[in-house]
Amino acid sequence: MSNVLDAFQKELLPEKYKNMSAEEMEQRVKEIKEKLGSRLYIPCHHYQKDEVFQFADDAGDSLKLAQLSSERKEADYIVFCGVHFMAETADILTEEDQIVILPDLSAGCSMADMANIEQTERAWGKLQRTFGDTIIPLTYVNSTAAIKAFVGKHGGATVTSSNAKTMVKWAFEQKKRLLFLPDQHLGRNTAYDLGVALDEMAIWDPIEETLVFDGDNVENIKVILWKGHCSVHEKFTTKNIEFVRNEYKNMKIIVHPECTHEVVQLADDAGSTNYIIQTIENSPAGSEWAIGTEMNLVQRLIKQHPDKKIISLNPYMCPCLTMNRIDLPHLVWILELLEEGNVIQQIKVEEPTKKLAKLALGRMLQFA
Ligand code: 13P
Ligand code: SF4
Repeated sequence: MSNVLDAFQKELLPEKYKNMSAEEMEQRVKEIKEKLGSRLYIPCHHYQKDEVFQFADDAGDSLKLAQLSSERKEADYIVFCGVHFMAETADILTEEDQIVILPDLSAGCSMADMANIEQTERAWGKLQRTFGDTIIPLTYVNSTAAIKAFVGKHGGATVTSSNAKTMVKWAFEQKKRLLFLPDQHLGRNTAYDLGVALDEMAIWDPIEETLVFDGDNVENIKVILWKGHCSVHEKFTTKNIEFVRNEYKNMKIIVHPECTHEVVQLADDAGSTNYIIQTIENSPAGSEWAIGTEMNLVQRLIKQHPDKKIISLNPYMCPCLTMNRIDLPHLVWILELLEEGNVIQQIKVEEPTKKLAKLALGRMLQFA
């Protein structure tokens, strides 16, 4: 079907693409999309920048993109406009002969990088010695394939911000306590909403390799939160909320559950990327919103809803830098190579990681 050139190596963007005009690049994407037709599929996360987002065959949050990728059986090439863990998930869920490509291999995720498999194996060993066989692991999809495989192997599942409550409830039906990787905030916010008290939660510090817990009896711990976070969503603060409350009397505040517990508690509403989009879409003209999520999405919502007043909860917020690595020059470059039948920067999850990670994803997708 194609030549796979240095599939796993990050290649440098050729000079040619740095000198092409935006119009030329857009024209090339259109031509190649037309030429390859349904052999090419471009799923795009809502946090992608507009220059790329305009070419999405489908746009979605992590959950939707995972589902859509698995349904596109006719696509030979899936050019994933998102970050590395999302492309890995697409590869795990698609057929063996489908090729998933990430236009820039440096589009990683700082949160996913906060839990590596060696740290996780060591943590699990220690936690098993403390708590015995009472723990089920859950991992946010924002994690490496190796972590998903670890979770799959130990009876656990993946979660996204759209289904975290369902999955945490499911986990408590399986075991007495859970280990939630790698985002402490999503884990804490979700468990708290389900009635787990803050003093029933502990933090696992993967650097110090210790359990951080203020209470006196570890037996009371129900949720162990991995000490990871999203460097974008952690930048929304309670000070930002105070400012909006003082400046804009009628403004509602909605945030993503990757924000800290304090921020989520002070906001008017919280939910996944998809929930935020739906809430803004369904709100009446004239309504006012401060949004605590990634900036490319907030800017797009501002453009799409001129009848509403929308601002970022943090006026100094930047887009997610790794999401932004996927730009028009990288997209054109990858597509021009595909047009010639050449593949670079393929994302391929090898066995047995793939099989085990699929188990964890499958336990989540049964509820979708
Ligand atoms: P969702 O798309 O699941 O809302 O996740 C947000 C995010 O940070 C993606 O990297
Ligand atoms: Fe990772 Fe946060 Fe960027 Fe999402 S927004 S890719 S969680 S760093």
